[in-house]
Amino acid sequence: MEKYLPTLETKRLIIRPISMDDKDYFFATDSQAEVHTFLNKEPVQSIEEMEKVIAFIQQQYEKYGIGRLGVIEKSSNQWIGWTGFKYIDELENGRIDFLDLGYRFRVESWGKGYATEAALACMQYYREHLTHFELHAITHTKNEGSRNVLEKVGFQITEEFYFDRWDIHCYWYDLVEQSVQS
Ligand SMILES: CC(C)(COP(=O)(O)OP(=O)(O)OC[C@H]1O[C@@H](n2cnc3c(N)ncnc32)[C@H](O)[C@@H]1OP(=O)(O)O)[C@@H](O)C(=O)NCCC(=O)NCCS
Repeated sequence: MEKYLPTLETKRLIIRPISMDDKDYFFATDSQAEVHTFLNKEPVQSIEEMEKVIAFIQQQYEKYGIGRLGVIEKSSNQWIGWTGFKYIDELENGRIDFLDLGYRFRVESWGKGYATEAALACMQYYREHLTHFELHAITHTKNEGSRNVLEKVGFQITEEFYFDRWDIHCYWYDLVEQSVQS
């Protein structure tokens, strides 16, 4: 398994591994109530909670050579959110042991195409280095912004399911190319 952790660069973004030094920036995103509208509605409440999340991400770096990555806006050199892959090792929609593509951005940076730009860079990295992992994504059925991102970068809805851990109704996405092959 490849353990190299990437730093990806796009026209407007740097997408790079997350360290404990990022905890305040990470908190500034994950504590925003709007960011959680279509998640489990539990914004992060404290820096200590954020440290646990970063420790979990760093475990994924060690164990699987992948994990969520921080997104820096080049023009301001500011953290604006995170994206990338999470290795799912608990049942989701009856599946386990796959990668999930995800992202959360600070409200101030929505609507600028950043989520799509970052997800495209992740997808290119997936195709070049990670195709030995199965890849899926999920969104709340009403999360139109996220649905748009996923559809633009090559996913399609194949199922609808109830995500019991978060008590929300979700769409399940497969890669278009994988659905065509199977
Ligand atoms: C989901 C999220 C990343 C989308 O960010 P974004 O800044 O809107 O993304 P982009 O600018 O790349 O835009 C994606 C597309 O969705 C569209 N879109 C964004 N919000 C929308 C909405 N509420 N309704 C309909 N379309 C929407 C955009 O117009 C864009 O389409 P276009 O390029 O054809 O105009 C952002 O809203 C977010 O961080 N939300 C909180 C966390 C979250 O829900 N993460 C996803 C969990 S599954």
